[in-house]
Amino acid sequence: MSAIDEIKERISIEDVVSQYVQLKRAGRNFKGLSPFNSEKSPSFIVSPEKQIWHDFSSGKGGNVFSFIMEMEGVDFRGALEILARQSGVDLTKYDNKSYARDAKIKEKLFEALEIATKFYQIHLSRNTGAQEYVFKKRGIDKPTALSFRIGYSPNNRSDLSDYLIKKGFNAAQIKGAGLGIERDGKLIDMFRGRIMIPLTDPNGRTIGFTARELVSSPNSPKYINTPQTMLYDKSRHIFGFNKAKEAIRKLNYAVVVEGNMDVISSHQAGVSQVVATAGTALTEYHLKGLNRFTSDIRLCFDQDPAGIKATERSIPIASKVGVSLSMINITGGKDPDELLKSNPDSWLEFINKPIYAVDWLIEYYKNVLDLNSGQGKREFSDIVLKVIRSISDPVEKDHYLTKVAEIINVSKDALETKIGNQTIEKVALRHNKVEHQKNHRNYDLSRYQNHFLSIVINHPELRILLEPMTEEMFATEESKKLFKFLVKNNEITDFSIPLDDLQNIGDYIKVLLLQYDELYKVQTTTELHYEASLLQAQIIQQYVKQRKQAISTLLSDANPSQAQQLLTEAKDLDKLLRNNKD
Ligand code: CTP
Ligand code: MN
Repeated sequence: MSAIDEIKERISIEDVVSQYVQLKRAGRNFKGLSPFNSEKSPSFIVSPEKQIWHDFSSGKGGNVFSFIMEMEGVDFRGALEILARQSGVDLTKYDNKSYARDAKIKEKLFEALEIATKFYQIHLSRNTGAQEYVFKKRGIDKPTALSFRIGYSPNNRSDLSDYLIKKGFNAAQIKGAGLGIERDGKLIDMFRGRIMIPLTDPNGRTIGFTARELVSSPNSPKYINTPQTMLYDKSRHIFGFNKAKEAIRKLNYAVVVEGNMDVISSHQAGVSQVVATAGTALTEYHLKGLNRFTSDIRLCFDQDPAGIKATERSIPIASKVGVSLSMINITGGKDPDELLKSNPDSWLEFINKPIYAVDWLIEYYKNVLDLNSGQGKREFSDIVLKVIRSISDPVEKDHYLTKVAEIINVSKDALETKIGNQTIEKVALRHNKVEHQKNHRNYDLSRYQNHFLSIVINHPELRILLEPMTEEMFATEESKKLFKFLVKNNEITDFSIPLDDLQNIGDYIKVLLLQYDELYKVQTTTELHYEASLLQAQIIQQYVKQRKQAISTLLSDANPSQAQQLLTEAKDLDKLLRNNKD
């Protein structure tokens, strides 16, 4: 038995889901309000028989592991660990030796960090100077300080290290957790005389600290952070994520700010869709982590030169990850923390007025360059055209070309010539607004493909509809695989028994069966046949449209023989569409 099987045996999906969604019995299934949308009538379904969930409002669905991945923003391994803990399964007996050894060491580091968190909290309660700073100077209230587990590290050489040694930890573990360092052969505390803010993993467990000095001094850094450890990796860590994820999922956007204190103040003010990268530039990993919850990412970095550079650098990264990036400009404070002190209501107003990355870039450079001079015009067009040339939607592209032409008062022809001469950038910025809509379209596409397949698996007489279709018309790996299977196995109708060919899409098929039960079971055969052919026509039309767009792009760079091939394909596509209509 695998760890996955043991966990599935010990827990039931309805119990796990009930921790997040209030479920009510509805026939053989359970129903509840979708955790992915704000809705009034329940469209979230759990099948205890199939051990599967499906959310009709978003089209998402799967087994208990994918549910935890969605809710907690963790990867598969993360979900495995959470469910193993809940069900009392010992993962180490399944892992290979070195993995198991690492897991043991990590567990020890977690323990040390938990003790340290409490230790610092207690010391905050004993030190009036530190309290004065946290509660008066920073205006943090008691519930917020408790919720973020803010503490204070005593200003002595080795108080925490001594305490941990007494508790049975050794020097290697204390150093490994990033809590101590060696000086002249002696173990001393990493953090001394600072306000301690725990950094946590998505489950809220402490993995490190960021530590602020109480009084600014030119001789010491304002913040000291835990170095890279087995638990803490600054290029991946998102500060406040565990507290923000619910709001991010519900609102379907995330705000990324620069500082930890900005996050804390914002959460205190009730705006909890806010996280920080804290002390490091935005990386691909940060964006991938956030993208599990939303593709609408709004940056609010300081408007100083460093912040501007950081914002600019994140544009190509966002395009690579495929998220929609926009900027929040605030006035009335140097950062959200300051703004929240002077004008708390305006923070949300600024958040609700994000500026798309391309517009932001144009606005910014419009103001810093002298657009009356020839050189200014050249620099301006150098920078913004690089971004514009990579916008994939022709209408959008044209819109921005016109805009730039007006701003620097040159002809659009001149800009088009210049764009044509620029070397092609490897990382292309796909304009985020367009990209967002496209993701959406893809999403709807796979949704009605699933509906179509859910009918066809239950009705072999309808598999004739598959004849003009090809695997390329389907959007996901799972649907492609199922399509191929159905074409090959015309007669199979019982998908409740495990079939060898379909091993790793078993859960996907279960979701389709659940969809069928909910959507189509009560319909008459005539209705179903009509519905299926309508869906099939939609899938084919969509595919033909996409393919023809691709062909017209490819044609511009094709040599004569390639062009011939592409034109033949375009003709075949037209034929396909015509034949399928009659
Ligand atoms: N930072 C850091 N090390 C420093 C300075 C800053 O790691 N020496 C990180 C911190 O995570 C900080 C973020 O960069 O939150 C932004 O820095 P800055 O704008 O200078 O500080 P604030 O967040 O405004 O900090 P505070 O409000 O406490 O002054
Ligand atoms: Mn600040």
